[in-house]
Amino acid sequence: MDTLSHAVATRRTFAIISHPDAGKTTLTEKLLLFGGAVQLAGAVKARGDQRRARSDWLKVEQERGISVTASVMTFEHDGCTFNLLDTPGHEDFSEDTYRTLTAVDSAVMVIDAAKGIEARTRKLFEVCRMRDVPIITFINKMDREAREPFDLLDEIEKTLALDASPATWPIGSGRDFHGCYDLYQDRLILIDRNGDRRPTTEAVAGLGDPRIDARVPEALVAKMREEVELAQGLSPAFDLKSYREGHLTPVFFGSALRNFGVQELLEGLARLAPSPRPQPAEPRSVEPSENKVSGFVFKIQANMDPNHRDRVAFVRLCSGHFKRGMKLRHIRTERQIAINAPVLFMAGDRDVADEAYAGDIIGIPNHGLLRIGDSLTEGEQIRFLGVPSFAPELLRRVKLDDPMKVKHLRRALEQLAEEGASQVFRRRLGGDWVVGAVGPLQFDVLRSRLGAEYGLPIEFEGAPFELARWVDSDDKAALDRFVAANAPNIAEDHDGALVYLARNQWYLQRARDDWPMVRFLETREQHALQAAGG
Ligand code: G4P
Repeated sequence: MDTLSHAVATRRTFAIISHPDAGKTTLTEKLLLFGGAVQLAGAVKARGDQRRARSDWLKVEQERGISVTASVMTFEHDGCTFNLLDTPGHEDFSEDTYRTLTAVDSAVMVIDAAKGIEARTRKLFEVCRMRDVPIITFINKMDREAREPFDLLDEIEKTLALDASPATWPIGSGRDFHGCYDLYQDRLILIDRNGDRRPTTEAVAGLGDPRIDARVPEALVAKMREEVELAQGLSPAFDLKSYREGHLTPVFFGSALRNFGVQELLEGLARLAPSPRPQPAEPRSVEPSENKVSGFVFKIQANMDPNHRDRVAFVRLCSGHFKRGMKLRHIRTERQIAINAPVLFMAGDRDVADEAYAGDIIGIPNHGLLRIGDSLTEGEQIRFLGVPSFAPELLRRVKLDDPMKVKHLRRALEQLAEEGASQVFRRRLGGDWVVGAVGPLQFDVLRSRLGAEYGLPIEFEGAPFELARWVDSDDKAALDRFVAANAPNIAEDHDGALVYLARNQWYLQRARDDWPMVRFLETREQHALQAAGG
């Protein structure tokens, strides 16, 4: 196997999806710990604190105690290179999360064993389903009072319409949690009940093996045998194809806090999760093993380090072997750019990347050229598809008291919009700025960032519009007539794309009825696709 094929085959690029508090942070720390990326799990937290201290421009983040920024953690284990893409936990940043999910090949769904499927888990799951992202389930907190395993599996099947195939089976729960039986490999994995040492494993010759009786307390052994037998009979057997297609999830039980089940989860990811998949693109899809380098921007982060005041475009490599210093073609502007200082994000620290392969994420510092959804190639005219911009659900008008700063505000808003932090629309008549967001917290973050990073004290006020839709038509004359007839409601986004601002749903519907030739679109990706004739 050549180097590229080997690198692709051993890459696992994934994200963790969960409801807040289910244990995503703890599991992330433990994965890094088991992956050998850090010596102590606490070190990740410490680094996180440092990072937070460095980024104290983002006061909201500290005040609200949420992680607004997302990052990429790369670690190696068992011959595999894992890229774990962190997704922001707070609901208001779901757009960011959606985009991050366009850059992964699989996901781990963390569920709290006492709570089961929660609202946000389900929402994120739906996004994964839209893209057929295969999911491994980790049922966490088995060291606490937990629901019955059958009950949890049943809930996954019923609420998510996803076959659940137990990979491990818990032996007891809460204070009685002793470990798991590994259904795939017939072994016992036993928790260290006195300390925090890693679990011990012991291979057994099936459920009848007397070694099980020697290791598992009498009170639990019969129940375990009965349940595992039942599970083997009733639950769907693991089927790789079905998992890869997103119809079945292997389920691991564990306790991230107690280091339990993490090793098995990693092994599961290495053994089952897909390596980088072909990426849909126009005019053709791209195979990861193609020699030529290509990738797309799925996230922009500005001012990660106030000393640099740079912006970093996170690029998912879709094919090829990338080397530092390479020149890539920026498809949207048809410019060649030299990638001289790419960054990899090893456990939160910046490292200069010398090389990377399809499936890896690289950060490209730039001054605003790269935008979300942009494609980079070695020359071929390829446009990757599927990174969405969503029509905002909330609109506010920006109020700036100092008229001398209007130009400054324009630049700041455009930068933040390109970064994907919000959407900015400038009305053609009047020229005022309307900012759109998916959740109210986004406005707080924006106000805070405009103040701290750009020295612009602004306020938001209600806008006379509730909805924004990108507009488009095959009939250019009809579109012009529509724009002329609705001038007060027409705005442009930061790319100059036309947007119709509707006072409310009723007006939007009326515009739709009156202008059947005009399309009113909820996502920009849709806009780009239709413009491209897709
Ligand atoms: P999140 O990122 O999904 O929001 O969850 P996070 O890891 O921060 O975990 C939420 C809480 O659940 C934390 O407790 C964490 O210690 C706890 N937790 C995570 N995994 C397990 C587990 O396997 N077993 C048990 N018993 N608890 C677990 P906290 O009290 O909110 O924070 P802390 O003070 O313990 O850090």
